[in-house]
Amino acid sequence: MNRPAPNPNRRQALKILGLVGAGVVVASGGYALYEYQPWASDAADRTPPSQGAAGLTPLRELVWYASLAASGHNTQPWKFALLQNAVEIHPDLTRHLAAVDPDDRELWISLGCALENLLVAARAGGYAVEVTYPVIDDVIRVRLTRDTAQITPHFAAILTRQNTRSVYDGRSVQSAHLEKLRTVALEPGVSLHFSSKRADVETVIEYVNQGNLKQYADQAYLKELVYWLRFDKREALATLDGLYTRSSGNPVVPRWLGARFVIGLKPQVQADADAAKLRSSAGTVVIASTSDDKASWVRVGQVYERLALEMTALNLKLAFLNQPMEVPGVRRQFGGALNLGQALPQLLVRYGHADPMPRSLRRPVEQVLL
Ligand SMILES: Cc1cc2nc3c(=O)[nH]c(=O)nc-3n(C[C@H](O)[C@H](O)[C@H](O)COP(=O)(O)O)c2cc1C
Repeated sequence: MNRPAPNPNRRQALKILGLVGAGVVVASGGYALYEYQPWASDAADRTPPSQGAAGLTPLRELVWYASLAASGHNTQPWKFALLQNAVEIHPDLTRHLAAVDPDDRELWISLGCALENLLVAARAGGYAVEVTYPVIDDVIRVRLTRDTAQITPHFAAILTRQNTRSVYDGRSVQSAHLEKLRTVALEPGVSLHFSSKRADVETVIEYVNQGNLKQYADQAYLKELVYWLRFDKREALATLDGLYTRSSGNPVVPRWLGARFVIGLKPQVQADADAAKLRSSAGTVVIASTSDDKASWVRVGQVYERLALEMTALNLKLAFLNQPMEVPGVRRQFGGALNLGQALPQLLVRYGHADPMPRSLRRPVEQVLL
């Protein structure tokens, strides 16, 4: 089934957030009432739910956009509370990744990614936003007040952003686009460190290798990874989360076979595959921060998502390779090798040109509300 292209214009965005009456929706036509369809086809674009009897209320619609954000292992470790003129984002610690993320650093980064999508969608829907970061308690609060709608290319890009894990085509990024990436708005204490020279990328590869060699020899890491892998469509649709193998360009296989393959994978094979992917990319960017606490992690997540939306709007692809930050000893050395000074590396992303991959799934809004 074909679905409308994900290119919401101003009217559509206003309608999406319930600012245009239902009569106008019907008159304008062309928008199906919201019906939860995780996939129209494997590669289907996401279609924003629209207002209507079966549609979402404006704040629920913001949650829908927030849920399309990146999250570690696609755990979607968030719960949203809808209040009068405010949305809260809470961590869902039942989705904590004990092996790969024992301190919940990446969990809070994931919440920052969701926050950024929520802010972009709220501004597009005609809200001004005010964020309270998790300093005193473990919650992100977003206060919403009516304002002029600001519909940016980032808003449309929420629907198509993805972590594209394929081998890229090796082309470099034009300098005007690189300049846009370098000047993406930052958050206090967060910095971006780009590398595109071959020698610098080889340095990055050295640390990704080290991370891979450690992780793929670690039974706890592998067990957790297998738990979150979805080896076929039935598994993926049953949970609407996790890492569907097709979204990573891997074959659909029975669980017993997939698990055996992952557990038995030689660490060097994984390291070589990631090195090839890095060499096929136009460059890498490390997101670093001066502090290592929940509020900083949230801000790191916001900057990642903002950068990812900017890249998506420029028709670039990107993918994480966070192994160097996930192994504590490697993380320290990696920061030193990159001359980050006092800043700590938080995320590593490669970027370049590639075709889109099948999308990862999300749970429906009802399942992520408190
Ligand atoms: C904090 C964080 C760490 C991640 N680390 C990795 C990683 O090391 N390797 C990887 O392939 N994907 C990584 N991801 C990407 C997630 O697996 C991805 O966002 C999730 O599967 C949803 O897919 P999507 O981003 O394509 O929507 C990470 C995402 C986040 C937010």
